[in-house]
Amino acid sequence: MKGVILAGGLGTRLHPLTKITNKHLLPIYDKPMVYYPLETLVTAGIDDILLVTGGNNAGDFLRLLGNGKEFGLRHLNYTYQEGEGGIAEALSLAEYFVDGEPMVVILGDNIVEKSIKSAVDNFREQGSGAKILLKRVEDPQRFGVAELDSDRVVNIVEKPKEPESDLIVTGIYMYDPSVFDFIKKLEPSQRGELEITDVNNLFIGRGNMTYEILDGWWTDAGTFESLYHASTLVAEKNL
Ligand code: DAU
Repeated sequence: MKGVILAGGLGTRLHPLTKITNKHLLPIYDKPMVYYPLETLVTAGIDDILLVTGGNNAGDFLRLLGNGKEFGLRHLNYTYQEGEGGIAEALSLAEYFVDGEPMVVILGDNIVEKSIKSAVDNFREQGSGAKILLKRVEDPQRFGVAELDSDRVVNIVEKPKEPESDLIVTGIYMYDPSVFDFIKKLEPSQRGELEITDVNNLFIGRGNMTYEILDGWWTDAGTFESLYHASTLVAEKNL
């Protein structure tokens, strides 16, 4: 099982903080943001990881993380996304690294309280298709919102004005390598990005998507409010 951390994009919602550094290098309480998704993958038993980054400060990731030895990795791989073409575009850069294996993808600004190891183990047993991790939140309109029919996800809507539910898709995705064929079929959305929600809806259409509800708290950190909230959650956990 390979791991992919997506830490590209320009983080414009966090200007001026992200004018001189990459969003994923900003502090969350006592560590740089990117440490958290990295540790989430390592704790789930994944030690072969690719970091996709971008922007003007990509070299700083190498200075910070080096070859990943400090995290117990055999080796840490890096690649570079030009511009901000979307989460699915960033993931497409991982095709060569993933090399036909299943993968766990995590967004570089997603922070979780508890281990995702059992979900990853369940996906390993699932063998093919995809799995997403869902969470109930108070502001679902900021995220991809899942529509359920008994025990299946039947649709995901990206940032709906009037969400059908408060159950959102977190930035932790598990895919078999056919994800790269799906990405090649995508058209850019209205905001000019290749959307991961479109990828997930293709897996749903193929009847090959499972989900689990994430245990413990979860947050992203891409807005001032969520950045602050993430630091508070981590600080309280450490107390
Ligand atoms: O955090 C979960 C949410 O993440 C999901 O519920 C949404 O369905 C999904 O679209 C995404 O929404 P955001 O609008 O919060 O994504 P954002 O543009 O903030 O990007 C999140 C991370 O993805 C970012 O920290 C780095 C990575 N990314 C993003 C873009 C646009 C890239 O690596 N490259 C990119 O071009």
